[in-house]
Amino acid sequence: MKGVILAGGTGSRLAPITKIINKHLLPVGSYPMIYWPILKLKEAGIKQILIVTNKESLSLFIQLLGDGKELGVRLQYKVQQSASGIAGGISLAENFVEEEKFIVLLGDNIFETSLTPFIQSYNQQKEGAKVLLKEVSDPHRYGVAEINNEKQIITSIQEKPNNPLSNYCVVGIYMYDKYVFQYIEEIAPSQRGELEVTDLNNLYIKQQQLSYDVLSGWWIDAGTHESLYKANTLIYQGEKGE
Ligand code: DAU
Repeated sequence: MKGVILAGGTGSRLAPITKIINKHLLPVGSYPMIYWPILKLKEAGIKQILIVTNKESLSLFIQLLGDGKELGVRLQYKVQQSASGIAGGISLAENFVEEEKFIVLLGDNIFETSLTPFIQSYNQQKEGAKVLLKEVSDPHRYGVAEINNEKQIITSIQEKPNNPLSNYCVVGIYMYDKYVFQYIEEIAPSQRGELEVTDLNNLYIKQQQLSYDVLSGWWIDAGTHESLYKANTLIYQGEKGE
């Protein structure tokens, strides 16, 4: 399986520093943020990785990571011309994945647990997609899954709802089959002008093709000042073995 890491977007919630530097190059523990998703993929045996970023940042990523050899992975890059949304970023991976199933990580999601068991369970799934959920105290900040407990299925996902229907947020770890690119063509930009990953995943739900697992361990979307600080604290604690 190949991996795709999204490292574009505007990083507006981390302004003003993100006016001049891509969010995913900011430090988390001893490394730039982008190292963590790369290392998570590598740990799960995924070494062919596409990094999607914006045109202003591409040369910095190449300067930092090159072809990935130093980190023991093989990196390719793709430029997302504008922050057209997460699904817009995923659409750029079509040639890279060559019709195989693949995994997408949002570059600002930092987490503890190994991806291996989730990838294994997705590999046993014949078709469709898989998302990972995490119980959080502030679901309105994320995509929120409504779950039918009896059937153990996600019945819908709402993006940043005012009145969340559960505490389960959809984290930035997604697994897709080749049909994802057709589904992306079916979605239209949201009110914030983005092709939303939530709209994409809702299309899989409509076809009864979306499975889920619950992510164990800690998980952070490091896209705000407070959560970036928290990610640093958790990584430092892990590095010190606390
Ligand atoms: O962190 C999980 C959440 O991520 C999900 O629960 C939400 O459903 C999902 O929409 C997303 O919400 P955010 O508002 O946090 O997304 P953000 O705009 O911060 O972008 C997330 C990552 O995707 C970030 O690493 C940058 C990258 N990105 C984003 C956009 C909009 C791109 O590479 N290109 C883009 O156009």
